[in-house]
Amino acid sequence: MVGQIFGPGAIALESLDSSQFVFINALPKAELHAHLNGCIPISELQQMAHEYQRSNKDSSDVVQKAIVQLQNGVVLEKIYDFFDLFPGIYALTSDPASLRRATRTVLAQFLDGPTPQCAYLELRSTPRETAQMSKLEYVQTVLDEVERYPKARVALIVSLDRRMSVEVARECVQIASRLKSEGRRVVGVDLCGDPKAGDMSLFAEHFAQAKQAGLGVTLHIAETLDNPADEILQLLSYSPDRLGHATFLNDEAKALVRQNKSCIEICLSSNLFCKTVTKLEDHHIRYYLQHDHPITICTDDTLPFRNSLVGEYALLLAKQPLGLGLSEDEVRRIAEMGMAARFGV
Ligand code: IMP
Ligand code: ZN
Repeated sequence: MVGQIFGPGAIALESLDSSQFVFINALPKAELHAHLNGCIPISELQQMAHEYQRSNKDSSDVVQKAIVQLQNGVVLEKIYDFFDLFPGIYALTSDPASLRRATRTVLAQFLDGPTPQCAYLELRSTPRETAQMSKLEYVQTVLDEVERYPKARVALIVSLDRRMSVEVARECVQIASRLKSEGRRVVGVDLCGDPKAGDMSLFAEHFAQAKQAGLGVTLHIAETLDNPADEILQLLSYSPDRLGHATFLNDEAKALVRQNKSCIEICLSSNLFCKTVTKLEDHHIRYYLQHDHPITICTDDTLPFRNSLVGEYALLLAKQPLGLGLSEDEVRRIAEMGMAARFGV
C-alpha cells in the first residue's frame, strides 16, 4: 500500500531497468528512521481533516493550511519552516481513536502488501499529552497497533523533543522504560525536533536512564550548520548507538563517530528537501561509504517529502547524476548494515 511518490527518489526509480526494480523490491530492508506523524499517507490525512472539519465548529485554519501545503507538495526555503507543518497534523491525531487510525495506516504503508516497503520497521513518535489522552495513553495506543504485527516486523522508538523540559523528557523516558519492562515493544529512545531548540547539556540523565533500562539510543545530530561543535560533542558523549543525519560533523566529531561505529541513519530525500544538502553528489553518505562505516537508509517523513523506502534505495542504485550509481552488491551490503543496526528483534 504505497501512494504515489515524487521528487528525486521517484525520478531515480523511473530510471531503473526492470531487473534493478525487482532487485530493490526483493531486498530485505530495515526502515529505522520514520516519524509517525510525519509519515501519515496524505489520502488518510485528507479524510481525517474532512471529518475533523465536519465535527468541529471551530474550524481553525491551521489544519486546512497544512493539508493544502501537503497535498500540493511542500516547498521549504529552510529546514526550520518544516516544523510549522506539525501543528496542523497534530490537531488531527490528538485523541486515541485518531492516533490509532493514523498509526494503523502508517504501519500498513510500510509493512503491508505483496511487496512491502520494508522487512522491518522501527517507527518513532513523541509522546503527546492532549485534552483527550496522557503521554502514557499516547504510547500505549501506538503500541497496541504496533503489536498487531509480529515482533520480527516492527517496534517502537519513543522520541524526546529538544524543546521538552527536563521533567517532561524524564517522564517520557520513564514511560518507555516502564512499558519495556512490562514486555511492551519499545526498543529505544530518540532525540528530535527543531535543531536549534533546547539545551542539550540537560539531556545527559535521560539517555543514561534509557541505556540503563536496556533501550537503544538514537540522536538527531548535526542536522544543520547552526548546530555548534560543542553541542555535537556533548551529544556524542552520551554514547548513542545510532545517529540521525550527522550532516555537519567536524573532524573531531567524525573521528569519534568512526571510533564508536555508531550507525548513521541516512535520509537522502529529506536532506535535499530541507536544503541541508544541495545535491546528491555532495551528500555525506559518500564519506561514510568511503570509510566503510555502518549506515542505514531511511525516509524520515514520507508525508511532506512524498518519498518511499524503495525510492530512497533507487537513489543508491540509479546512475549519476540521478543517483549514486552504486552496484547491486554495494546496495545489498547497505541493506544488511541496516538490518544489523536494529534495536529490536
Ligand atoms: P511524531 O514524533 O510522531 O509527532 O513525529 C513528528 C515529529 O518528529 C515532529 O514534530 C518533529 O519534532 C520530529 N521530526 C520529524 N522530522 C524531523 C527532522 O528531520 N528533524 C528533527 N525532528 C524531526
Ligand atoms: Zn528525523
